[in-house]
Amino acid sequence: MAKRPPLRSINQAELRNKRVLVRVDLNVPMQEGEVTDRTRLLRVAPTLVRLAERGARVIVLSHLGRPKGVEARYSLRSLQAPLAQALVRDVAFAPDCVGRAAEDAIRVLPVGGVLLLENVRFHDGEEKNDPGFAKQLAALGDVFVSDAFSAAHRAHASTVGLAKYLPAFAGPLMEEEIAALERTVESPTRPLAAIIGGSKISTKLKLLENLLEKVDMLLIGGAMANTFLLAQGVRVGSSLCEPDLVATAQRIMQLAEARNCRILLPNDAVIADKLAAGIPSRLVRIDAVPDHAMILDIGPSSVAQYLQQIQSVRSLVWNGPVGAFEIPPFDQGSVALARGVAEYTSAGHLVSVAGGGDTVALLNQAGVTQDFTYVSTAGGAFLEYLEGESLPGVECLRQNPDENY
Ligand code: 3PG
Repeated sequence: MAKRPPLRSINQAELRNKRVLVRVDLNVPMQEGEVTDRTRLLRVAPTLVRLAERGARVIVLSHLGRPKGVEARYSLRSLQAPLAQALVRDVAFAPDCVGRAAEDAIRVLPVGGVLLLENVRFHDGEEKNDPGFAKQLAALGDVFVSDAFSAAHRAHASTVGLAKYLPAFAGPLMEEEIAALERTVESPTRPLAAIIGGSKISTKLKLLENLLEKVDMLLIGGAMANTFLLAQGVRVGSSLCEPDLVATAQRIMQLAEARNCRILLPNDAVIADKLAAGIPSRLVRIDAVPDHAMILDIGPSSVAQYLQQIQSVRSLVWNGPVGAFEIPPFDQGSVALARGVAEYTSAGHLVSVAGGGDTVALLNQAGVTQDFTYVSTAGGAFLEYLEGESLPGVECLRQNPDENY
């Protein structure tokens, strides 16, 4: 990939007494109004505290969910207290992100104060990246800081549009996410391996094709592996698979061979009649899956094989569990693999980077999140980065070649 201009860093920004509009990603999982995973809050908190301590008047912008117009269940008001708790300082709230309500709240916001504005997606100009809406947002601030890497694949008014109307800078979390990915994917210590799981080749086709160009080894798991097995003539019973993509899987395997990229598929599997809690399951060799059975996890021999190969690499990127990890016992393959990767990383043998909602949930479940070199807060954006896409919410923060920051 051609070298891109660096990001504009907030270290170079004059922030004292400025109204700083900070786009963060507070799109956190919630149940009955309660946050069920605080990771994104905790990861962005240092940025907001840092801005406040530099004397900014911190105005926080975010979306939550995919509301159609104003929907009370997606109000960011329910994030006011959890955010204040994560920051260990007061957070004010304005019931709209533009107009009078926002202006009034900003007027009384002191230097070093933090104000959370209502969900930007309550206005349809947000997702349309409507210039009028972006200008309305811009009128509220003097500086724009984007710290929402996980929303950077969206070209919306608060992720991209604002950069047209205000001096725009990348926040520390944004910089950290990109640095971790660039270090691991663009200039890794080789050999580099990728674990790619998940259910469908069709949703990860671009990812697989792009990774083939970059990695030395591709370890495939999840239902996605079933289509590859089918392409090798292995019978996968009633497993989830995409028979119409067998030719595609074959093409990927040929491409991999031509590029000297080794593809690994499971050699054993945990099977059951269907995916359900408490269902009887058993372990079989991969060439012995009965017609009525579904492959729901990789078996211990596959785990051992994958870990043995991972021992020979120096960098690893992981997206997607290798089994139906939400339902025990089909989590065992993914958990064992995660623990192995964590162990090699802790021992200093491996740089490991993981991302994607399910993958992060898996690492938390396995209790190894802290042991990975870097765990991204991003789902879709992480995937698009690995697909080789340029992310609009990142590109708008790069220096112009003639800029002198
Ligand atoms: C995410 O959670 O991946 C981001 O916040 C983007 O959310 P979206 O897919 O609703 O745009």
